[in-house]
Amino acid sequence: MKIGVLGTGFVGGTLGRRWAEAGHQVWFGSRDPDGDKAQTLLANCPANTRVTSWIDAVEQADVILLALPWSSVEDILKQLDGALDGKILIDCVNPLNSTFSGLELGFTSSAAEEIAQWAPRSRVVKAFNTLSAAVMADPMFDGVKAAVFYCGDDAPALEVVGQLANDLDFDAIVAGPLQNARYLEPFSMLYIHLAMNGWGSQCAFQVLTRPKPQ
Ligand SMILES: NC(=O)c1ccc[n+]([C@@H]2O[C@H](COP(=O)([O-])OP(=O)(O)OC[C@H]3O[C@@H](n4cnc5c(N)ncnc54)[C@H](OP(=O)(O)O)[C@@H]3O)[C@@H](O)[C@H]2O)c1
Repeated sequence: MKIGVLGTGFVGGTLGRRWAEAGHQVWFGSRDPDGDKAQTLLANCPANTRVTSWIDAVEQADVILLALPWSSVEDILKQLDGALDGKILIDCVNPLNSTFSGLELGFTSSAAEEIAQWAPRSRVVKAFNTLSAAVMADPMFDGVKAAVFYCGDDAPALEVVGQLANDLDFDAIVAGPLQNARYLEPFSMLYIHLAMNGWGSQCAFQVLTRPKPQ
């Protein structure tokens, strides 16, 4: 697939590099494509990777990963205006407050639903927000895959995102309509609490199942 990754930080850099290593074409969109950070990332990625402006990355790709700080998302989406029309927009953003001690939204909305309003003709799928960038780099735990929960209202877009998660050795678990981002985003606060209180960034969620009784 052709994937645009907006943001060259922990999440964008990790997932973008891994998708390129899995054979996808990746365009990183950066504020400073010629800067040291973006160029170092590029040097650590395979040849099917480019670093460019946000708009170029969006125009080249069919699927866009939004890997930006919550505080910057509204402005950037408005700058991109109609360029996202019809594109699958993967939202991994947690709407953290300025002290990272809680979320700015919840119960009656979510970052994913706000993003869907700011990019109204894009096909938003919430995914990858309940695990650390360290686990994104290596999702296997003694042969068990870390879960990626994902939700959205566009069935073909969900299928694509599930496949992109599976391509990176995650266990992709579909979690209903986009409104369920209201559950996935607070779930990330639980993850952050656990990670910062003893478990560290090398931990992940999984769902245990037993055969259903007949
Ligand atoms: N870190 C995690 O473990 C984790 C896990 C799950 C979800 N998330 C979510 O994923 C998103 C990205 O997190 P991250 O940890 O990758 O963040 P990060 O390392 O700070 O990277 C964010 C990137 O966004 C770009 N950017 C554009 N406008 C910016 C601005 N005004 N200020 C700062 N950066 C700006 C920057 O790339 P350029 O310099 O190239 O423009 C920057 O490298 C966040 O919404 C976060 O809640 C993070």
